[in-house]
Order: sequence, then C-alpha cells, then structure tokens
Amino acid sequence: MLKIKKIKKENMLNENKRNSIIFGLSTSKKIAKNISELTGIKLGESKKKSFADGEIFVELSSTVRNKSVFLIQSTHYPANDNLMELLLFIDAVRRSSAKEVNIVIPYFGYARQDRKVLGRQAISAKLVSNLLTTAGANRIITFDIHSEQIAGFFDIPFDNLKAYGLIAREISKLNLKDLTIVSPDHGGVSRARSLAKILDNSPLSVIDKRRTNHNESESMFVLGDVKNRNIVIFDDMVDTGGTVVSAVKILKEQGAKDIYLAISHAVLSDKDGVKAKDKLKECGIKKIITTNSISHDKDDFIQYIDLSNAIAETIKHHINNKSITNWFVKEYNTYI
Ligand code: R5P
Repeated sequence: MLKIKKIKKENMLNENKRNSIIFGLSTSKKIAKNISELTGIKLGESKKKSFADGEIFVELSSTVRNKSVFLIQSTHYPANDNLMELLLFIDAVRRSSAKEVNIVIPYFGYARQDRKVLGRQAISAKLVSNLLTTAGANRIITFDIHSEQIAGFFDIPFDNLKAYGLIAREISKLNLKDLTIVSPDHGGVSRARSLAKILDNSPLSVIDKRRTNHNESESMFVLGDVKNRNIVIFDDMVDTGGTVVSAVKILKEQGAKDIYLAISHAVLSDKDGVKAKDKLKECGIKKIITTNSISHDKDDFIQYIDLSNAIAETIKHHINNKSITNWFVKEYNTYI
C-alpha cells in the first residue's frame, strides 16, 4: 500500500515537472541551465535578435501550451534592453497559451526610484511593476529588492526571497570576533538589522548618508560605536561604489578594525572612467561577499554565492503546491 502511494506521488511530481518549462534570457543563461538541472525541468529554447535600429525580436522555439513557465532575467546594465527583452518574452509566452507566467528576476532593476524624492519625478519602480503585469506576468520572484513596499506595487503574488540568509552563512564562516553590522544609510537599516539578528544578534550601526548629487553621496556621521570593531557593511547593492567608499572612510576615522562588504547585488558600474571594483579594492575593504544575481568574471576579491539552488527549490515548491515561506524560514533562518 505504502509502495503504491510512493509511486503515485512520484508520478505526480514528474507530471508537475513535465508541465513546467524554464527559459533563461540574455542575462541569466548559465543560472537557468543550473536551475533546469537541479529541478529536472526542461530548459526551453528561444531566439532573440536585434533589428538594425535596436528594436528587439523574440520567438519561442519550444511549446509552452498549458505549462507553468519560468522566465529568468536580471534587469541590470543595459537595464532598458534587458527589461524590454523580458517584457517581450512575457508577451510571447502569454500569447502562446501558457498556463501561468512566472518571472524570476534575481536582480530587480529600477527598484531604487520607489517614491518621489522631489516634485515632478517618476516613480519608476511602480511603472516597471505596471509594465510587467500588463505584459502578462502572473508571479514575480526576486531577491532582496531595494524596498519591501514595492511588493504593494503589484496585484499579483510577489516573493521577495532573502539572499541575506545565504550571505549570513558565508559571513559566519569568517569567524569574525567583535562583529558589528553597518547599514551605510537609513534606508537599509531594517535589512541590516535582519542580518545582524541571524548573526547572533550582532550590534548594529547606521551611517547618516546624504545624497549630494545624482549618483553621488556623502557619509555624515556614524550612529553607534565602531571603535575596535570588525565591520560588515551590508547593503542591497553597490552601483558606482560611492556609498561604500565614503562609509569606509568614516568608519576608519572612527577607529573600526577590518571592514568587509556584504551586498545582495553586485551592480558594479563604471563612473567617470573609474571601475567600481577598483574603487572598492583601493578603499581598504578586505573582501566582498555577494550573490550571482548579476554575472561577473571570477575574482579573488569578490565571493559570489550561487542562487541557483534557492531558485530551483522555490520553483519546485511552487509547482508541487508546497509553501515557499515555510521552506525558506527553515533553510535560511529568514522569513520571506
Ligand atoms: C541606495 O539607497 C542603495 O541602497 C545603495 O546604497 C546605492 O544605490 C549604491 O549606489 P552607489 O554604489 O552608486 O553609491
């Protein structure tokens, strides 16, 4: 009797896999392949071409009829092209009779503009959420989005998985004594507090950051004592590196010992001909711990944590009607 039950369950799980398909778009081919191998779900084939004027053309080579489709694409540089490619794929999938269109966006670009700082500005995070939903997305899965409230810009399920659960594991391996977690600005306090909580309730310090110009900032003062403490600065992303460089400067002035950087997303852009990575190396950071939400070449200075397994398990839980929250809490000691 038990054996029959087991066979029935296995048949059902295989059926769920057969009824699903994964597509890795331009930014996420490698991670999509890993996820396909880990889940046993077929990796779909597709074509993407560009017209002479820069317009993008997409076409699915594999059928998606009545399937749960998972499109994987980070929307980093070139953000507009990568976002547009994603929107076109969603449209193609929806028009090809998919059962549901699930979008996995390991790094969710355009999330920083989630409110008007001054009058007459766009709220681009809201516009992007409208675009994704209008194109036909039924569900969004992402990691450590810039602000939690962006979930409310969507009227579809939105899973913001916590990459810092994975990052915390790697920080623990460093065995840092006298550890203080530092948020480089007010906006990141709750995220940094969550990381500090996982790391044996380490003390938390906050830097008062002021934006001096577009893509430029200044660290004004540190809230909390960092003297003779080993520091992990934790932020959702590093773009030009300006925020972190000024944070390191003020932390050193206040007598901090070794300084590490943990970030969920290594955007790492160039600004005025200077590479963000070079800036970070030169400012005295010992090591960077991040994820592969954005792919870069291997580097001894930066440790990339692979998100493939977390995404694969999320997909498996979803197609098998199992709770993603319960699994995530148990596995990574974080809620979602
Ligand atoms: C801003 O609130 C974000 O959390 C990051 O601190 C910021 O976007 C990093 O940008 P950059 O590296 O250019 O200073």
